[in-house]
Amino acid sequence: MTSLNVTRLAEPLGAEITGIDVSGPVDAALIGAITEALLDHHVIVMRDQTLTPEQQVTFSRRFGDLVVRVSGEFLHPEFPEVLILSNRQVNGQYAGATAAFAGELWHTDLTYAERPSMGSMLHALEVADEGGDTAWANLYLAYETLPEETRRRIDGLKAIHVRDRRRNPRGAITDSGGIDVDKYYSVKVTDSVHPMVRTHPVTGRKSLFATPRFAVAIEGMDDRDAQPLLDELFAHQINPVFIYQHKWRVGDLVFWDNRCTAHLAVGGIVAPGIRHLHRTSIAGDRPF
Ligand code: SIN
Repeated sequence: MTSLNVTRLAEPLGAEITGIDVSGPVDAALIGAITEALLDHHVIVMRDQTLTPEQQVTFSRRFGDLVVRVSGEFLHPEFPEVLILSNRQVNGQYAGATAAFAGELWHTDLTYAERPSMGSMLHALEVADEGGDTAWANLYLAYETLPEETRRRIDGLKAIHVRDRRRNPRGAITDSGGIDVDKYYSVKVTDSVHPMVRTHPVTGRKSLFATPRFAVAIEGMDDRDAQPLLDELFAHQINPVFIYQHKWRVGDLVFWDNRCTAHLAVGGIVAPGIRHLHRTSIAGDRPF
């Protein structure tokens, strides 16, 4: 088994890996070691990677098929598996998704899908001096620290996950960055219903599985009961003791496990800072 140089970054989750280069051929032993690090630390930061979009796609595919987002906006023109996140303005338009379309509310990627993404990778090409961090929360810990009574209450419940922010009571878009929100959400996407307590298919551990970005209601429960319960869970899952906040460096390739974490684009980029990243998402299983 290949051994990696892994350093834990924060108590609840997150680790840094140095001394590897994933731009070229990567052997199965290294893929195995990275997978193990992901399962142990939930968010892994591979430093100093120089990757073209094609190389990022090739490396990401080693962990499974890639997901192409349902709407065409912000996708790389040659590699649609790559979502561009950017606050750079080109001819009065953003060169990629800004936070309103990728990350300004706590979420787990693509949970509106029947089979949400198992993990995502974000590669930093340019970073701002100030602001633009990403925060991740450990949802195993969030589940394990819920009061016993709440755990019993949500065990067996299912949340309804919706892509369209216009249908989310917590989702009002305050700054669309010039994007036509109605057009963006005109693509028909069927809602998905997922257990609120998810069992990780590899580790077998349970985690809380509902975030304010996508979980808008609870199946079979009146909103008068469901919304306060969701509020309580959403407040609980972002306790700082569950969180690692990442300050990006150029060349970071961060790989996170969507089956036990949620994340947030923290924002606060100070002008003229430019933050330009490429994201790939790996297909996953139906949550159980
Ligand atoms: C995302 O939600 O995938 C992007 C997070 C970020 O931009 O920090």
